[in-house]
Amino acid sequence: MADLSINFAGIKAPNPFWLASAPPTNSGYQIMKAFDAGWGGAVWKTMGVPVINVSSRYGGLNYRDTRMSGFNNIELISDRTLADNLREIEEVKKYFPHHAVIASLMVETRKEWEQIIRDVENAGADGIELNFGCPHGMCERGMGSAVGQEPEVLETIVGWVMAAAKIPVITKLTPNISNIEDPGLAAVKGGTSAISLINTIKSIMGIDLDTFAPYPVVDGKGTNGGYCGPAVKPIAMNMVRQLAQHPQISGTPISAIGGIETWRDVVEYILLGATSVQVCTSVMHYGFGIVREMERGLRRFMDERGYQTIYDFTGKALPNILEWKELNLSYKVVASINPDKCIGCQLCYIACEDGAHQAIGLSSDPTNRIPDIIEENCVGCNLCSLVCPVEACITMEKQPAKAAPVTWEELTEAGEIPNSFNDPRAGGNGHYVPEPAEALRKKG
Ligand SMILES: Cc1cc2nc3c(=O)[nH]c(=O)nc-3n(C[C@H](O)[C@H](O)[C@H](O)COP(=O)(O)O)c2cc1C
Repeated sequence: MADLSINFAGIKAPNPFWLASAPPTNSGYQIMKAFDAGWGGAVWKTMGVPVINVSSRYGGLNYRDTRMSGFNNIELISDRTLADNLREIEEVKKYFPHHAVIASLMVETRKEWEQIIRDVENAGADGIELNFGCPHGMCERGMGSAVGQEPEVLETIVGWVMAAAKIPVITKLTPNISNIEDPGLAAVKGGTSAISLINTIKSIMGIDLDTFAPYPVVDGKGTNGGYCGPAVKPIAMNMVRQLAQHPQISGTPISAIGGIETWRDVVEYILLGATSVQVCTSVMHYGFGIVREMERGLRRFMDERGYQTIYDFTGKALPNILEWKELNLSYKVVASINPDKCIGCQLCYIACEDGAHQAIGLSSDPTNRIPDIIEENCVGCNLCSLVCPVEACITMEKQPAKAAPVTWEELTEAGEIPNSFNDPRAGGNGHYVPEPAEALRKKG
């Protein structure tokens, strides 16, 4: 039977399923209930100098019949007193000594960092997470993403924390930056024990068409919030793999956050190099019970493949993620429609005709609604298979290779690809001279 336990930068937990710092980790009551349900760790709702929160606070992106496929909030850090939070951390650790309790912190000055670190250590926290990610409210006060967006400041503060802390420190990064490697590297240079990402993405959820106020509305006004939930997972996954592939960062444990809802999401992040995962929106949507399905699925996945621990498959997808220039240009797939499954909706035809490569034709017989693939036009883009509403009705079939594998880089090096507009193989001489209007008129 698979062993799900982890040792994440020195923080031990019975499994890699952690709650992210957010409303589900606002109190000892919630965290103990979550641990009873099966969560292996929890990052406490960020503590600092208590704040006053607004009402309302959350916005949801409903896509067709899926509610909250994206989620947004304009809430700040914990509005409870530090003393209450510390007392409850101590209580949780008494009842659950083998679960991971991580204190998320956000303060401003070095003195404040030193004091609050001592406090959470005294309360028995297993680790500290530095919230350098909050993209609203706190950043206006020089904290949260204001730190995460300034690698030098981030490195300095991580350095202060590392000098003061006796327990492992996780630096949580903001995705509101052009290259995640910059703050990732700064965190490593500052000496962080681990990295977590992503925090939320700056966003406006929508506008009320009657009042012109942005959601969520606070007395007729609003502000940008932080976006999260299933919609952000692809962005978070790319950032996780960027850090996991970076030679100077890859040795630092990564806790992945962003859009996790099922065991499959968990496995994907582990395959990209994460060794713990954190969940917020899907718990806010469906409750703590989702961890049971996560655990069952992860165990089945590992047992079926003979993996004993999650470290047996950590990062296994990374060698398959290359730069574009390294992909094989000789590889070709072509769409194939299964007539037994096709319901004749012709969405594939419309999408390909208007939005892609005109590689799908319709029968001249109006009683036959099953489209045909025009193989010579099909570039294998996948669009028809993506819009098709029937599972596995349109498949992309690998074609026999017509040439040996070759990459853009190799073709360029061999001089086989035009590298300028002026190259005759690019179809021009570098200057487009329009035909005179008179000549065009004559042509009709
Ligand atoms: C309502 C709400 C409050 C949050 N508060 C915090 C916080 O106090 N500290 C923090 O580091 N992240 C906070 N987050 C960000 C989450 O911890 C997490 O990074 C983000 O939601 C992405 O994960 P998800 O897609 O599973 O929601 C908050 C998120 C939400 C939705």
